[in-house]
Formats: sequence, C-alpha cells, structure tokens
Amino acid sequence: MTACGLDFGTSNTTLGVRGGDGFRLLALDGMRNTLPTAVFFDFESDRTTIGQAAIDAYVSGVEGRLMRSIKSMLGTDLIDADTALRKGRISFRAVIGTFLNLVKARAEQALGGELGDVVVGRPVHFVDGDPAGDAAAEQALGEIARAAGFRNVSFQFEPIAAALDYEQQVAGEELALIADIGGGTSDFSVVRIGPARRAKPDRAEDILANDGIRVGGTDFDRDLSLATVMPELGFGSAMKRAGLLAPKSIYLDLATWSKINFLYTAKAMAELERLQRDSAEPEKIERLIGVVEHRQGHALAMAVERGKIALSDHEAAELALDWGDGALSLPVDRPTLNRATGTLAARIGTRIRDCLAEAGVTADRIDAVFLTGGSTLLPQVRAAILAEAPGARVVEGNIFGSVGLGLTVEAQRRYG
Ligand SMILES: Nc1ncnc2c1ncn2[C@@H]1O[C@H](COP(=O)(O)OP(=O)(O)OP(=O)(O)O)[C@@H](O)[C@H]1O
Ligand SMILES: [Mg+2]
Repeated sequence: MTACGLDFGTSNTTLGVRGGDGFRLLALDGMRNTLPTAVFFDFESDRTTIGQAAIDAYVSGVEGRLMRSIKSMLGTDLIDADTALRKGRISFRAVIGTFLNLVKARAEQALGGELGDVVVGRPVHFVDGDPAGDAAAEQALGEIARAAGFRNVSFQFEPIAAALDYEQQVAGEELALIADIGGGTSDFSVVRIGPARRAKPDRAEDILANDGIRVGGTDFDRDLSLATVMPELGFGSAMKRAGLLAPKSIYLDLATWSKINFLYTAKAMAELERLQRDSAEPEKIERLIGVVEHRQGHALAMAVERGKIALSDHEAAELALDWGDGALSLPVDRPTLNRATGTLAARIGTRIRDCLAEAGVTADRIDAVFLTGGSTLLPQVRAAILAEAPGARVVEGNIFGSVGLGLTVEAQRRYG
C-alpha cells in the first residue's frame, strides 16, 4: 500500500505520491491532476459523477443536483444537515464521503495500486474564532477519510504543506512567509526553511507562526455577485410597504456556492412567491423565480467566477448570464470587483500582519513570500499580501499543486 498526500480543497482537489526521485500528483480527471471539487447527482441515470464531468453534466442541463464548496460545510452545523435528491435525502457528510471514495478510486487507477496511509491538508482555521468547530471539522474529515478506505489518517496545515513543497527548491536558509489563498480560506505561515533542515524529524521549532482566516475565492464570487448580478434579480429592490427592501438572506444564499441548493425547496419557492406579491418591483422577483425554477443558481455563480477570473488579466469583462427563460450580458470592470471585495482583501492583509506579530518578526526579516492557491492570482489580493512584506523576494509556487505536493512530502516523512 502506498502512502499519499490529499489536498481536499474547497474548489480543487489533488492527491500525490512519491514517484521516481521526487513527488508527483496523480491524474484524477482525465489527464489533469487537478480535480474540481464538485459532485453531481444525476437524476436521469441515477449515477454520481465528480470533477469536470459533474460540472459539464449540470451545464448541459441534465436533471440532477450539483454540489460545490462542500468543504465549507465542515466545522458548521450544516455538516449533518441533509439535502434532497431525487429519491430520499443525503447529508453533506455523506456527500463528502461519496466524493472522497471516488477520488481514491481514481487515484488508485492512475497509480495502478492501492493507497493506504494519508496526510490530509487542513486550513489553519476551518471556522474563525471557534476552536470547538475547528476540532469537530478535523474529526469529521478524519472519519470520512477512514470510511473512504484510507488506513492511517493524519493532518497537516495547508500552508505548512506549501512550505514543504517550496523547501524542495531552495538552495539556502531563509525565512519565508507562505500565503495560500484558495477557494474557501486564506492560510499563512512564517517558517524557517533550507536544505539542511529538510531531513529533521521534528520541524516544530522552524514554524514561527500559523494563522488563517475563512476568506477565499468563493467569498470574492459572492461579493461580486451581490454587487452586480443579484440587483438584477431584485437584491436591494423596494417592497410595497414603504421603507422595506427585499430580504437579503435569499440573495446571500443564491450568491453563496454552498447554499444555492437551499433555494431549491417547495418552502423556499413559496417564500419567493410571497415576496413577488409584496414587491414594488415584481418583474425583478419574477426573474429570480425563473432562476430558481430553472435551477440556474450554479450557472450564475459560474458566470460570476469566470468574470472574476477574467478580471485578473483584463480591465473589463462580460458576465454571460442565463436566467433560464432569458439572458443578459452584464459588463463588469476591475474597479467594480475591487470595490465589491476590498474588505475581503483588507482582511487578508490584516491577518498577515497578525501572523508576523505572532511569529515575533518584523516584515523586513522575511526573505521570501511564497504564493500558492488560485486566489493569489487576483491582483488586489496579491497587492494586499505583498504590501505586508514589501522587501521580500516573491516566489510563485505551483498555484494549484503546491499544497498537495507538500502533503505528499509529509506523508513520505510520516509513513514512507
Ligand atoms: N486567474 C484567477 N484569478 C482569480 N482567481 C482565480 C483564478 N484562477 C482560479 N481562481 C480562484 O481560485 C480559487 C480556487 O483556488 P484553489 O484551487 O487554490 O482553492 P482550494 O485549494 O480548492 O481551496 P481551499 O484551499 O481554500 O480549500 C477559486 O475561487 C477560483 O475562482
Ligand atoms: Mg487549497
């Protein structure tokens, strides 16, 4: 049995093993070693698919239920809540179990052998300021991984894993600030790394600080959606009764990847119909009802995410929105994105400052800032990170692979 590292990410999942004279990520999705963390329960064929095929099935209009951001349920009461399938209901714990089972099977197929012990990545904080929630999240994920057939399951902080990957390439001693900004969380560590330290069995004294915050790319998607798309569906619109606005909670759910399915119930639809009767702008609410009826929630979220990603390279982009019974091309530009998400970027910067303070070092002591995670590609996020260590060298990690590779290094150390 082969030991492995598993990066179960909010948006993307990777799994690595030792290979040749190094470490490698296994192909999990066709030839790709990055697998979108997505599950689709296909109501037509009664099959369950994961990864890009899950997203494609949903987009092509197959009747069924798409689930994304399932990691966000860990550490919240929702982990044991359930959601409706065609027949019966399924808990989010079981959805994560289904996903990890299929990931393990695919990895074993790519490897041509059985996987045994695993080091699983975890954010420094699954939930902010809630040690009990954090412990519960780790425990739940450990139970799910064992139920999926992994033998010994242990954890490592995601930014420490990224540091171990970075350490494979450094030539000398340095003090590094690791920044891993993913889909669900932003994680940081301040670590001493170097070739001579790699073989040390206990690295505790090299880790000066670890900290994190539950802010990631999906929050940027949500806030961009609330600023651009949701107003088209009645967010902020007036009710007939003077002074009242359409309730924000509906729009928050629709704009939050992990909560979109909460609107797909008879109870939620009844609330939307009531809202339409009481609205002073019922045509917007009618559009909202169409989105929910046609199960277009994820399609809108995908359009927003695509727009956000386009704005990393371009000053302006178009959101191609499909309501189900109508469509709209909505222009967005980088200033709009930056205004909508400025608070999130600022919180990331503040948490880095806290992390440096915990480490007991001033910014000028940091030799290198190592960047990994898809959301470090957001110009505003990158600027917020680099502003906290302006003199440091900037090292681009493997954006989607460093954490998985570092977990694999750690798995070798612990179980190899
Ligand atoms: N070019 C880009 N510009 C901005 N954001 C991007 C870009 N490419 C990907 N992203 C965002 O990066 C996020 C996914 O990053 P990543 O795969 O590192 O997260 P993850 O590891 O799954 O999540 P986490 O570590 O928080 O659990 C998504 O929110 C995605 O929209
Ligand atoms: Mg990650």
